[in-house]
Amino acid sequence: MNTTSPPGPKGLPLLGSVLDLRKDKLGFLTSLAKAYGDFVHFRVGPRDAYLVSRPDCVHDILVEHPKRMPKEWIHQRIVAPFFGNGVVTSNGAVHDRQRRLAQPAFQPRRLDNYCRVFVEQALLGISEWRSCGEYDIDNEMLRMTIQNVCLTLFSADATDIVSRAADAMTDILGLLGREYDIAFPIPMWVPNEYNRRKKAAIRELNDIVMKFVEDWRKTGQDKGDLLSMLMLAHGEGGDVTLDDLRDNMIAMFSAGHETTAFTLVWRWIMLARHPEVEAALWEELDRVLGGRPPTAEDYPQLAYTTMIIKETLRIYPTGWLLFPRETTEDVALGGYTIPKGSMLYVSPYVIHRNPTYFPDPERFDPERFRAGADKQLPRGAYIPFGLGPRVCMGQHFATMEAVLTLATVAQRYRVSILAKQPLVPSGSLALRPPRGVKVRVDARNPAAAAAA
Ligand code: HEM
Repeated sequence: MNTTSPPGPKGLPLLGSVLDLRKDKLGFLTSLAKAYGDFVHFRVGPRDAYLVSRPDCVHDILVEHPKRMPKEWIHQRIVAPFFGNGVVTSNGAVHDRQRRLAQPAFQPRRLDNYCRVFVEQALLGISEWRSCGEYDIDNEMLRMTIQNVCLTLFSADATDIVSRAADAMTDILGLLGREYDIAFPIPMWVPNEYNRRKKAAIRELNDIVMKFVEDWRKTGQDKGDLLSMLMLAHGEGGDVTLDDLRDNMIAMFSAGHETTAFTLVWRWIMLARHPEVEAALWEELDRVLGGRPPTAEDYPQLAYTTMIIKETLRIYPTGWLLFPRETTEDVALGGYTIPKGSMLYVSPYVIHRNPTYFPDPERFDPERFRAGADKQLPRGAYIPFGLGPRVCMGQHFATMEAVLTLATVAQRYRVSILAKQPLVPSGSLALRPPRGVKVRVDARNPAAAAAA
C-alpha cells in the first residue's frame, strides 16, 4: 500500500483549489487530468479531494464498494432543498426504497410503449418547422424531452407549461450550480437575494409537479404510469408519503429532460460538422424505415443511429460529473490509502478522453461503437450513465428517446448550425451547450416533411 498521496496541485493555504473549481469546474478538472494523470489529489478548503479516472478505481467506487463511498453529504445538503430526498439525492435505505418505488416505470415492456410517445412528440415538434427556417435547437429539443417525461411517466400533457418548466429548471440549476461549485450550502434562513430567488424557483417546481398530482386526483384512474403507481401506493395506506411522491416526481422530471435534450443538441452539432456521418445516417434511415416514422420494433435495426448517440455521449456526456462521493472510512484505492472523509470526483467527460481506450479522443467517430465494441472496454472506461447500484434509472429510456427522436427528425430535415456561434460546453450540473444554439433546417424530402 502506498501511503503517499497521488500527485496534484498544492492550491492556496486554507482554500485549496476552491477558487479554481468555482471559476471553471470543467476546465479545472480537465486540466488536472492533463497535468497529473488519472489519479489526482487536490484540496477543497480543508478537505482532501481526488479526481479518479482509472477505470478499475472507478469500478471499485461505483460497483464494488458503493456503501463505503456513498454520495457526499455536503453536496446532498446543497441539493436536498431543491430536489428533496428522492432517488437522486438520498443514500442507504432511503435510496434503495425510492429506487424500488420508481423501478417498474422503466421495465422493458413500458419502454416499448414510450417509443410511440417519443416519435409522436418529435413529429409534433417539427410540424411547425418550415424548410429554410431558423430555430433555437436547444429550445426545440427541450420542448420534446419535457413532454416525453411528462407524458410517459405522469400521463400529463405539459404543452402549456413547457416554457415555465424550462425556465424553472434553468433558474434552479443556475442557483444550485453556485453552491455546488464552492461545495458549501447557503442556509435557507439567510435573508438575501440569492435565497429569495432560490425559494421562488423551488416553489415553482413544486407547483408544476403538484399540479400533475391534483389533475390525477380528479379521476383517480390507474393510467399504468409512474404517477399512478405512486398515487395508488400512497392512497392505499401504503408507506408512500406525499413527500416521497413529490420527491420522486421532481427527481424524474429534473434528471430526465435536460440531460437528453442537451445530448440531442450536441448530436446536431456533431452531425453538422461531420457530413460523412450524416450521409451514413441517412442511408440507414432510408434503408430501415423507407420514409415511414420509426416504431419500437425498428429500434434494434437502427444500429448506426445508436452508434451516433453513444459517440455523442462519449465526447459530450451530459452527466459530465457524477455526484461527488465520500469515503466513510479509510479506503485502499489504486494503491493509495484514501483517508476517511475525502471527496471523490468521477468525471465521465475526463474518463472518456483516455487515449488508451479512445485513440485520438477529440475526434468524433461513431465507428468506435461498431458491433458493440464498447462491450470490450474495461468496466469504468465508458460511463455516460454512471455505473453500479446508482446507475442512471433512465439510461434505456434516454437512449431510445435520443435514437428515435434523431431518426424521426433527421429523416425529414437536415439541420445546419448557423456560423459564428461559440459552441463551447459549460460544465454546470449538466454539460450544457450555450443558450440559444441557432440552426437552419432544410427539408430533406419536401414531400415527407410536408406530410409530417
Ligand atoms: C442522455 C440522458 C441522460 C444522461 C447522460 C444521464 C446521466 C446520468 C448519470 C451519469 C447518473 C448517475 C449520477 C451519479 O452516479 O452520481 C444518472 C442518474 C440518474 N438518472 Fe440519468 N441521465 C440521462 C437521462 C435520464 C432520464 C431520461 C431519466 C428519467 C426519466 C433519468 C433519471 C435518473 C435517475 C433517477 C438517476 C439517479 C439514480 C440513482 O441514484 O439511483 N436520467 N443519470
